[in-house]
Amino acid sequence: MNIIKVKDYEEMSQKACSLLLDVVENERKPVLGLATGSTPEGLYRNLIEKYEQHEVTFEDTTTFNLDEYVGLAKDDPNSYRYFMNEKLFKHINIQDENTHVPSGVAEDPKQECKDYEQLIQEADRIDIQILGLGLNGHIGFNEPGTSFSSRTHVVELDESTRNANARFFDSIDDVPTQAITMGIETIMESKSIILLVSGANKAEPLARLVHGEVSEDFPASILQTHGNVTIIADEAARTKID
Ligand code: F6R
Repeated sequence: MNIIKVKDYEEMSQKACSLLLDVVENERKPVLGLATGSTPEGLYRNLIEKYEQHEVTFEDTTTFNLDEYVGLAKDDPNSYRYFMNEKLFKHINIQDENTHVPSGVAEDPKQECKDYEQLIQEADRIDIQILGLGLNGHIGFNEPGTSFSSRTHVVELDESTRNANARFFDSIDDVPTQAITMGIETIMESKSIILLVSGANKAEPLARLVHGEVSEDFPASILQTHGNVTIIADEAARTKID
């Protein structure tokens, strides 16, 4: 794993933006894997800026998001589809039909998972996958104990994950208990992976990811076995690995 050391959140976001733009500029039909949460917001701001400065076009870009809460519709401000529309898609020239987020309100969530996985397979590959790091080592919403050979599936969210994400909701009771997430094997098939890590609360999980054993008890540890992973970590997140 290649670790890029940056000073702070803004530098992390700029670096991630330039790595992503390399792919968008060099692939004829780029396929991006995207994440939500607090960590990639700065990356998306930077991408919008580059688009507004006419430095990039997203006309031929396709995106697949990692996950979505079960029960939240696309117009729910806490849904990940809403987040992506607001934070990125509506500000750039990506074609709506080329952006993919699992549906949280599909009648049959298991079928939705199969269909989503199928779409990813039809796209042939994800050129670059952006990941954030969960405090318990989750990637996507693959919680500890998830099989490394999992494909897109429905998960029960850990209490710790629901607590960590409660900040976006009115109360913890409003945080959904289930989500649809790309599986670990699906994520690992991406040609390249960028993991963004910022802030002191990520220092412990980052150290376990880098130095710990590869185990399903800590899903992010699987990244040690991928041939093309770049971690971009700021100073506050690196205190236990430097
Ligand atoms: C989001 C996702 C999650 C987050 C992780 C970190 O789509 O899949 O794995 O990346 O929970 O979240 P933040 O960035 O809010 O600390």
